[in-house]
This record gives sequence, C-alpha cells and structure tokens, in this order.
Amino acid sequence: MRVLAIESSCDESAAAVLDRDRGLLAHELFSQIDLHRVYGGVVPELASRDHVRRLLPLIRSVLHSSGTDPRELLGVAYTAGPGLIGALLTGAALARSLAYAWGVPAVGIHHLEGHLLAPLLEPDPPPFPHVALLVSGGHTMLIEVRGIGLYEVLGETRDDAAGEAFDKTAKLLGLPYPGGPQLAQLAEGGKSGPFNFPRPMLDRPGLEFSFSGLKTAVLHAVRGRELSDAVKADVAYGVQEAIVETLAAKAVRALEQTGLDVLVVSGGVSANRFLRTRLAEAIRRRGGRLYFPRIEFCTDNAAMIAVAGLARLVSGPHDGLAIQARAQWPLETLRPLTA
Ligand code: KG4
Ligand code: ZN
Repeated sequence: MRVLAIESSCDESAAAVLDRDRGLLAHELFSQIDLHRVYGGVVPELASRDHVRRLLPLIRSVLHSSGTDPRELLGVAYTAGPGLIGALLTGAALARSLAYAWGVPAVGIHHLEGHLLAPLLEPDPPPFPHVALLVSGGHTMLIEVRGIGLYEVLGETRDDAAGEAFDKTAKLLGLPYPGGPQLAQLAEGGKSGPFNFPRPMLDRPGLEFSFSGLKTAVLHAVRGRELSDAVKADVAYGVQEAIVETLAAKAVRALEQTGLDVLVVSGGVSANRFLRTRLAEAIRRRGGRLYFPRIEFCTDNAAMIAVAGLARLVSGPHDGLAIQARAQWPLETLRPLTA
C-alpha cells in the first residue's frame, strides 16, 4: 500500500512515496529560495510558475527511484491548504489529474496536519495524546492532539508567527531571505546579556503568543547605529533567546494545563538548535518526553503530506473529484480518524 504525495503550498516543490509496510521510499524537494531572494520574500506568482516547472519531474523521479507503478498506488495526497492559493492550485490540479488518469483516489491534506504528523516518520514516533508546539513561517500554535484529525488549538499567535519574527528581525540585521536559519547561525557567535529583548506575553496567563513587538524592539536597538559583527551577533542571540524562551515557557504551561507529559515540536522553526536544546532542558526539569521530526522534515516537505495522506486514504471516505485548494483552513474542522 503506497501513496504518492505532493507539496506546493509556498516556496518548496516536493514529492514523496510512502509505503505502509516499508516506510518512506523516496522524497525529493526543490527549494525556490534562490528565485525569491532578490525580492526579500516569496513572490506568489513566481512561486506558482516554478511549481508548474518542478513538480512533474520530481514526481517522475520519486516514482522511478521507489520502483512504483502509479496504477498500484492507494492514492495521491496533495497539500490543499492553507498557503498561497496559486501555488496550492498547481499541486492540487496536478495531483487530481494524475489520480484521475491512473484511476486512483486523491486526497487534499491540511499543511499543518502534515507538520503535526511529520514526527511519525521517525523510528520512535510520539504517542497520542500529546501537546504539539507548531512553529512555522505562518503559524505559531499550541495544540492538544488526541489522535489524527483530533486537534484542539490551545493558543496561537495574535500577530506574527515565530518564523516570521525570525525572518523580519533577520532582515533588520541585513541578513538575506529567509532569515531564520541565518539569524540562528549568526547568534552562535553572540552572547546572552547585551540585548535583553521583551518576552512577549510571558507575564500574562494563557497560551497566546505575540511577536510583532519584538521587531520594533530590535529596530530601536539597531536604528542609526553602525553595528560591528560582534554586536550583530549579540542582537541575533538576544532575538533568538527571547523567541525561544517564550515558546519554551508556553509549551511547558500547555503541558501543565492539559496534564499531558508528551511534547511534540514541528514546523520550520523546530529546526532551530537553540530551541531544541532549551526545550530538552525544560522537559528534563519537568519530567516528560520530547519529540521532533528530523531536521529535514521540520521545514516544508512532501514526506509529511504522505503520512497524513496514507492515514486518510486508508480510513476513507475519499474526497470528490473537484480540484480544491484553500488559502485559509481552520485545523479544528478536519475529519477525525478512528482507524
Ligand atoms: O514550516 P516552514 O518550512 O514553512 C511554513 O509552513 O511556514 O517554516 C519556515 C520558517 C521560516 O520562517 C524560516 O525562517 C524558519 O521556519 N526556520 C528557522 C530555522 N529553519 C527554518 N527559524 C529559526 N531557526 C532555524 N534553524
Ligand atoms: Zn510549513
């Protein structure tokens, strides 16, 4: 039982083949970072056009390298939202058309469900129920995950996402897009102390986040100053520390509130080493277990869409034939899987 999965919600084109018994057989990705860098962010129309160019060769390649005959597929899974609507439509139209031609079903997957289920690809997958900290470029959420499709959002950001906060402050420091990983690298040469940025909403009860004030604080700290490389590294350290400490404190608070002791962290920002270390310390102190996807499955990929797709295809019923994509899609409206 095999599924082909396609991801095209933003600036990564990706395809993967997952087998129920043998696991992940192939996964490939083309990142459009070089295409968008000169503009300092993702240009949606360019993203869509590039997905059109990249997806079919990626699909051919994963089918070939996994030795998969498409007519034997259990189905085709694709990211149906949330994301850039034009980019989503390229993957949705392609997935539906291929599935129709091959006589197999297609299933539209929620991108965030993909991120939430990415840790299931690891040899030691997290048990349900658990608390998930989902930190990506577009979302920052704490979610109680009782099973596949059983998601209760406990808290989310009121403004910028954690990844966005990384990217925007990185831009203020003159780092190229996407700034998150670059800022993290710069912070490695910095130290704690010189820049003590606000920990947004940490002093208030609840599980909401707010990161938009951070970029203003950074702007005030750097504006009109000629920054040496050492000072830049200290600013980067201060930003990373403020974001990570806020995330870690609220994640622990979510465990306390739900009485659960398993924390799963996923989404692009979960690739951040400092976040991984800080959370590991916090969970060690409190007692409990911590799970991450491997680094390459933290950021966008098709393997995670395949995991969600396989689960949904096995459980049926399948979507209709309409090509559907949704720029916005509340996570809590997904169909719970009982199987
Ligand atoms: O999950 P993802 O690939 O795409 C979305 O669904 O948004 O997340 C991308 C985000 C970007 O904001 C990027 O800067 C951030 O994840 N990111 C990181 C790191 N790697 C990726 N942020 C901090 N440290 C990293 N190592
Ligand atoms: Zn993502």
